[in-house]
Amino acid sequence: MENNMKFFIITIVLSLFQTNLVLGQAGNLDISRFGGKPNTDIAKAIVSAFTQACAATTPSKIVIPAGKYIMGSVDLKGPCKAPIELQVDGTVSAPTDAAALKGVEYWFKISHVNSFTLSGVGVFDGLGPTSWKQNDCTKNKDCKMLCMNFGFHFLNDSTIRDVTSKDSKNFHANVLECGNVTFDGFKIIAPAESPNTDGIHIGRSNGVKILNTNIGTGDDCISIGDGTSNVVVQNVNCGPGHGISVGSLGRYENEEPVEGLLVKNCTLKNTDNGVRIKTWPSDLGATVTDMNFEDITMINVSNPIIVDQEYCPWNQCTKEKPSKIKISKVSFKNIKGTSGTKEGMSLICSKGVPCEEVQIANVDLTFNGAETSAKCANVKPIITGKAPVCAA
Ligand SMILES: *[C@@H]1O[C@H](CO)[C@@H](O)[C@H](O)[C@H]1NC(C)=O
Ligand SMILES: *[C@@H]1O[C@H](CO)[C@@H](O)[C@H](O)[C@H]1NC(C)=O
Ligand SMILES: *[C@@H]1O[C@H](CO)[C@@H](O)[C@H](O)[C@H]1NC(C)=O
Ligand SMILES: *[C@@H]1O[C@H](CO)[C@@H](O)[C@H](O)[C@H]1NC(C)=O
Repeated sequence: MENNMKFFIITIVLSLFQTNLVLGQAGNLDISRFGGKPNTDIAKAIVSAFTQACAATTPSKIVIPAGKYIMGSVDLKGPCKAPIELQVDGTVSAPTDAAALKGVEYWFKISHVNSFTLSGVGVFDGLGPTSWKQNDCTKNKDCKMLCMNFGFHFLNDSTIRDVTSKDSKNFHANVLECGNVTFDGFKIIAPAESPNTDGIHIGRSNGVKILNTNIGTGDDCISIGDGTSNVVVQNVNCGPGHGISVGSLGRYENEEPVEGLLVKNCTLKNTDNGVRIKTWPSDLGATVTDMNFEDITMINVSNPIIVDQEYCPWNQCTKEKPSKIKISKVSFKNIKGTSGTKEGMSLICSKGVPCEEVQIANVDLTFNGAETSAKCANVKPIITGKAPVCAA
């Protein structure tokens, strides 16, 4: 009897324990279970599914199946208890009435989450063409910023895989305060003439990798802002677009160093710029160090290699004060292909803080079949193998 009683109690305790485990488990969450049906706005369904996933103590996967959906703005916040994957196989479009996203900074934002994965063969279509003509912030100081397709903020150990970002109204993806976030097989599509549609902007982050990614857009394919370290850009195709850019820096106060960048095995095609570091002439100091560009093919790139410490678009500054941003340990290795202008390389460093330890190795760029020239100032590059010859 006593033994039977013990067994009975243990069984009850065990089954309670199991029930708790089941309650804490989210597993596979199809958004149709949360009212997310094709041709309707699924923003609320995504938020509900995420809320359940975020509370679960075991990994969960939210699925948006193939089909066409509309999505208003979504702002997901952690911290969460276990890894979460959002697999998007459908085409998700912004509301056709652009007013629905007025004043919204990010169409899809996720923040403060560890181990988040965005995956699937789906497309996020920001319906930019209806809004691009209002995107005049370069000329109009009172302009309203349009919303970006993605905000990835304060994420750790996360992955953005395979999905496509199409026709964002503004930047496609803004990566801020992230640690160890990898983009792999991500795709970015927008026309060359779409304004301000930077592909991936990275700021104040460590350990971001962009791998196997095709980016065609109207502004920088990838741009790297202050406080960013250990970035790898590998097997990336860029074009159309404005190239891969570090900066601009020196426009805002208290900028943190940019340290550690490897751009490797990339192709830039029909872009305005290839690989570039740009800083504003101003009193504001910061450092840029350990920037490495290697095994890069340029095809009809207007300005393939640029360091520009006199960056001052739309005459928003004076060039009298030299930039105080210190650039050092920069290498350009095995860079070949065609330039769209006769100048293949332009290294215009600051006369206040000249560039240091700049290495050029095997840079072979032609324009209409002839070797390109180079312009250099306040820099003494260490040259190995072929390279455009610096004229003053
Ligand atoms: C991400 O990592 C940083 C640095 O380790 C940590 O301070 C932060 O709390 C982490 N974020 C989350 C959501 O856990
Ligand atoms: C990122 O990875 C590096 C190296 O594995 C590790 O030292 C660092 O703590 C990680 N950072 C975050 C925020 O996860
Ligand atoms: C270089 O990148 C391309 C994709 O852009 C890829 O197909 C190729 O395998 C990469 N080569 C190496 C050596 O990684
Ligand atoms: C070269 O690139 C420019 C844009 O920078 C483009 O207008 C032109 O058509 C391209 N030429 C070729 C041959 O693709």
